[in-house]
This record gives sequence, structure tokens and C-alpha cells, in this order.
Amino acid sequence: MGEIDKLLEIIQNISSGQYSNDIMFLTGPETAEPIRTIAEAMGLMMVKVEAREYHLETLISELKTLNEKVRANTIKTVSTMANALAARDPYTQGHTERVGNLAGQIARTMGLEAGDIEYIRLGGLLHDIGKIGFPDYLFMPHEAKNPPEIVRRIIKHPTVGAEILQDLDFLGPAIEYVRSHHERPDGKGYPRRLKDADIPLGAKIIAVADSYDAMTTERPYQKAKSIDAALEIFQSHAGKQWDTECVEALRRYLAEQSQPA
Ligand SMILES: [Fe+2]
Repeated sequence: MGEIDKLLEIIQNISSGQYSNDIMFLTGPETAEPIRTIAEAMGLMMVKVEAREYHLETLISELKTLNEKVRANTIKTVSTMANALAARDPYTQGHTERVGNLAGQIARTMGLEAGDIEYIRLGGLLHDIGKIGFPDYLFMPHEAKNPPEIVRRIIKHPTVGAEILQDLDFLGPAIEYVRSHHERPDGKGYPRRLKDADIPLGAKIIAVADSYDAMTTERPYQKAKSIDAALEIFQSHAGKQWDTECVEALRRYLAEQSQPA
């Protein structure tokens, strides 16, 4: 093969991304001009391109790490908001975290993928963030019926929550789960009275996790129910207040938990 053909072949290889040191064989004194000058120039270009590619790869990996940090910090900030909200109500201490975790476990039991499970866990963690503007009065034990203005605010808390979170892109579908966590399969939920098929699965799962936690923890107006008592309530309202498959997944998860390890 002549030097010019060899040079062309090497240039073609470089242009298709195959960098090798073959070009150096054409830079010695035995190579005729102008092939040698071209080969030297090509060699230099190749080194520069390789260095730039390496620099770009490093930048991309730094960006990925930074992006992950921003995401983790934002989740922390939003969780802090959720915890600050929970701190106003001593009876619901840990509620948001438990609902997030349980919702994630129900989703896992239903065979959902890791990415979907994480959105559902986040939705569970943030489901009541819209209560942040509630007056303190609502967080204290009270007997009297809530005045209509307060009832309107209670009904709006899923919408307010979704509005608070709407610009946090990384929450993805979790924002809709927050908006729909009080909807019911029988269409009697709020705020939109959605029909069964229109309620996102994540919201149905969070609804089950939220109610289960409320039933099984001590509240000013109720004693904590046993797991069996709670399951009985779920089963008798499955398909109406709660989604049947989500209730079934909760039952399976709790059974799995009660098995000796
Ligand atoms: Fe709620």
C-alpha cells in the first residue's frame, strides 16, 4: 500500500472515531513530503480532539453528580417542609415518612418498577404539603364541626399541594399523586370527584397507605386499630373508598412482614 493510501485509511479511521497511533508511522524521516507534514498535522489534531473528548466526558460526569446533588437537596428541602408541617400536629409525627415508605412498599408488592416506586414514595412523603397554610386550630383536637370556610380549605389541600410542587420537575407524576390522593374509586372523593379509571395508580396507593397509617396510630379522637381491624375496614370498602388491588397489595405486604425472617 502506498503512503498516500495508508494516510487516507488512517484519516478515515480517525474520522469514524477509531483513534490509534498508526499516524505516527508516517511522521518519520523515511516518509516523503507532503505526506509527512499532513501526518504530523493529523497526529496533533487527533491528540487535541482526544483531549477535548476526555474533558467533555469529565464535564458530563461532573454535571451528573451535580444534578444528583441538586435533586437530593431539593428532596431534603421539600421533606423538611413536610416535617415542619407534621411538627404542628404532634399526633401525626412521622406520618408523612411512614406513608411514603408504606406507599413505596405497596407499589413494590404490586410489581412496579423502581423508578415508579420512587415517585410513589415521594408522593406519599409530600401528600399533605398543601396543609401548610392551615390555621393552627385545625391541628389541635377539636370537637366542633368545622365551619364551611375551613371545610373548603380542607377540600382544597390536595390542589394547593400540587400547586406548591408544580415547578419541581424531578417529582414527575408524584405531583398528580398529591393532587389525587383523596379521590375514591366510587367517584365520591375530592377535590375533582374523579372516576376510578381517571385516578392515577400512585394516588390510589398513597390513599391506602395514608388511611392505613391514620387507622393504626393513636389519634386524639381514636385509639390505634390493630392490623386485622384495619384490614377488615379496608376490605369492606374495597372498590368504593379504596382501590381493590391496592388493598390486596397492602394485605400481602403486611402478611409478608409478619412472616418470621
Ligand atoms: Fe390529605
